[in-house]
Amino acid sequence: MVAGAQTGTTEGWSSRTAFVLAAVGAAVGLGNLWRFPTLAGESGGGAFVAVYVGCVILIGLPLVLSEILIGRAGRSDAVDSVRNVAKASGISEKWQIFGWFEIIAAFFILTFYSVVAGWVIYYIGVMLGDFFSALGAGEPLRGALAGETSEQITGRMGALFENVPMLVAMHTLFMLITIGIVAQGVTDGIEKAAMFLMPAFFVLLVLITIYGAFTGDFGRAVEFLFTPDFSKLTPPVINEALGQALFSMSLGSAALMTYGAYVSRDTKLGPTAGMIGFADTGVAIIAGLMIFPIVFAAGLDPAGGPTLVFQSLPIAFQNMPAGSLIGLLFFVLVFFAALTSSISLLEGPTAWAKEAFGWSRSKTAWIVGLCIYVVGIACALSLSIWSDVRLLPFWDIFADQNIFDTIDGFTGKILLPTSAFLTAIFVGWRADRKLVDAETGLQGGTLAAFRFLVAWVCPIAVGLILLFGIFPELLTAISG
Ligand code: TRP
Repeated sequence: MVAGAQTGTTEGWSSRTAFVLAAVGAAVGLGNLWRFPTLAGESGGGAFVAVYVGCVILIGLPLVLSEILIGRAGRSDAVDSVRNVAKASGISEKWQIFGWFEIIAAFFILTFYSVVAGWVIYYIGVMLGDFFSALGAGEPLRGALAGETSEQITGRMGALFENVPMLVAMHTLFMLITIGIVAQGVTDGIEKAAMFLMPAFFVLLVLITIYGAFTGDFGRAVEFLFTPDFSKLTPPVINEALGQALFSMSLGSAALMTYGAYVSRDTKLGPTAGMIGFADTGVAIIAGLMIFPIVFAAGLDPAGGPTLVFQSLPIAFQNMPAGSLIGLLFFVLVFFAALTSSISLLEGPTAWAKEAFGWSRSKTAWIVGLCIYVVGIACALSLSIWSDVRLLPFWDIFADQNIFDTIDGFTGKILLPTSAFLTAIFVGWRADRKLVDAETGLQGGTLAAFRFLVAWVCPIAVGLILLFGIFPELLTAISG
């Protein structure tokens, strides 16, 4: 711990396993389940996967370790931890600015994340109803949504967007669950949830993947994900791989720093960071091997984004033996992944506000959660009745985006890379070297590798993402 830290947390994980599960829970989320597989499939298969894995190892892992070590050394929320480490290193306390960016990023990511998680709850409801009617009809092993046409199934998503009361109700429910858990505290809330949700998530993931491999078109899925097509590796694709690695590992959004502050002194951070990165990447790849055999078996197009999970997959479940049950389990799995992520998205800003205002944990969780909830309603409305509202009309990259996409784009393209860049400069160049080296728990060659990656590779690579995110025309110039 840093000497002279006046503020600080008194909370802590009860074991290393609890920390690893909570951190993996933060990392594994909606980003792994649909964004990664689609990007991989569309952007060169094996070639993209190779670039992505390279980004994880060379940029993601050093940054994961950096964030956790700042948290554990600073022993407080994201802002105070950075300030404590800066103080101990004898450098300007202004460095805390990136702690702020991370908290603001977490706040805004959760506003739209909760809306999407709300869709997931709605689909759990749909699939649950379907499963019970299958049971009632004495056919528990039939396909999902029997008797519906494909148009009816895909039409459900648009209908949900138009159905504002339903959309808001689902967002409300999801925020209530998230706040309820964070309000309970680190050991009684966050840790208990992770210790149940993450093992349940892994069991479902393995079950559905194996089932899909036998009933679906596994060979095509493997081909789609892993056949390397290097001609598709353009600068925008590489840029996208880097951005996805940051988002997927929950970097730049306060989660790892905040969770790091609850880690005990005797946990070795280097290997722990490695486990988190390995688990996150493994889940992304397995998610592809879970989803695509099912999609291909139904003869569907592996189209990107929300349509894949909320439109193509329900059609695929219709054609699958026991699809009614598997579909239900699938949405439960997505829900578990989203919930462990939303918990850590709320914990970052909550830990800060708790220190800053001296409120109790539960009061803070409710107040911060309520603020996020209100902005989330604007995101939900921007899918239909507020679709013409613009948040940043004067900024070309956001000028024609609705509230939802603006917040998503601003956090992903601007805030996350900015914080990640500053984290790398801070840990690689400015923070006290002895303090950093001791926190890593690494020695010899691995320590030297970490130092090189965090000081040189991370700032350059992340700086490029930031530049191209803000000036997309630069990318077009290079690739054209
Ligand atoms: N990693 C999460 C996912 O893949 C999303 C995310 C980004 C996140 N930043 C975060 C989750 C901070 C928790 C905390 O879906």
